[in-house]
Amino acid sequence: NKGKYEHYMQKEIHEQPESLTTTMRGRLIRGGSSKRKSVLLGGLKDHLKTIRRSRRIVFIGCGTSYNAALAARPLLEELSGIPVMMEIASDLLDRQAPIYRDDTIIFVSQSGETADTLNALEYALENGALCVGITNTVGSAIARNTHCGVHINAGSEIGVASTKAYTSQIVVMAMVSLAIGADTISSKPRREAIIESLLNLPEMKDLAQSLISEQSLLMFGRGYNYATALEGALKVKEVALMHSEGILAGEMKHGPLALVDENLPIVVIATRDQSFSKQQSVIQQLKARKGRLIVMCTEGDAAAVCGGSGRVIEVPLVVDCLQPVVNIVPLQLLSYHLTVLRGYNVDQPRNLAKSVTTE
Ligand code: UD1
Ligand code: M6R
Repeated sequence: NKGKYEHYMQKEIHEQPESLTTTMRGRLIRGGSSKRKSVLLGGLKDHLKTIRRSRRIVFIGCGTSYNAALAARPLLEELSGIPVMMEIASDLLDRQAPIYRDDTIIFVSQSGETADTLNALEYALENGALCVGITNTVGSAIARNTHCGVHINAGSEIGVASTKAYTSQIVVMAMVSLAIGADTISSKPRREAIIESLLNLPEMKDLAQSLISEQSLLMFGRGYNYATALEGALKVKEVALMHSEGILAGEMKHGPLALVDENLPIVVIATRDQSFSKQQSVIQQLKARKGRLIVMCTEGDAAAVCGGSGRVIEVPLVVDCLQPVVNIVPLQLLSYHLTVLRGYNVDQPRNLAKSVTTE
């Protein structure tokens, strides 16, 4: 039931404040006089010791689920002190990459039924690794066949383009990071600030209008928001049927800069975190080449970041590691509006299936 919305994708984007609340429900202990603030993940608590002893942690997923893991990677590395590697399921299998008994492998999948991810799970089980699932679907093949895991509890996602599952996956992986590194715990008020931030995000209709007949759209991000650039571009490709590429800003001079001219729209993610000054210099370099910029920055930074020229998307500031949860929302809305304006099917993009059960 779409309720007051025209499309499932639109409904699911707007549902994110609630889906994130459900994802966190019962899993965060507020603390008080005797209790410490902490995270309780019922599905992981008996395995945390093993995970902390593992030599490395490997995230495996496809598409949006891979991007969510990429967004969570810096925090997991920081809080666990364990090397965290990223693998796209099909690529891991193509390479028959080495997996060891002292590895913890985290399988991220909204549906829990993606063939590539399941094949990778089977391969990791054969190799004796501890296999952890992060899925939205109770009783799915990934939930059943992993040793342990966490359900993201985002509610069913109908639109083929994954939106609310992405943000819930990041939040679950942030909670997993906190549980593994149990002495570093973000506070509940910070999380509440994120939910509050989501509620107040701006509509993106005008921006979509200005991009309606473009051929291509680039998105530059780095650090915590490299994943945001990849995921924003995936959404635009998938539903708006427009070419789009997410680029690690640190790679700009190693090739992509050649594409920049006054016509190609470029989204630059420059919210406040340790990458901010580097992103400011990226903006300067793009401006020097007359790049057509759309800058995403922290509320109140518009003048400082882009000096009044180009389009600006302002987002509320949250703690750096969770900023990707906020930053993706305007890009989801942008891809949604762009799709509607271009007259394409939002909830069932051509050639795609919600759950990819064949290789
Ligand atoms: C569980 C209950 C929830 C209840 C709560 C109360 C289920 C599905 N969840 O939630 O209804 O309100 O206790 O304490 O009954 N698992 C995997 N692989 C995965 C995902 C999960 O093996 O990919 C396993 C977990 O290790 C765990 C079980 O499934 O044993 C349930 O996981 P989850 O729903 O995340 O646990 P809780 O949040 O504790
Ligand atoms: O169900 P999964 O999370 O395993 O699905 C993985 C991808 O097929 C999926 O995220 C796909 O990229 C989405 N349609 C993107 O919106």
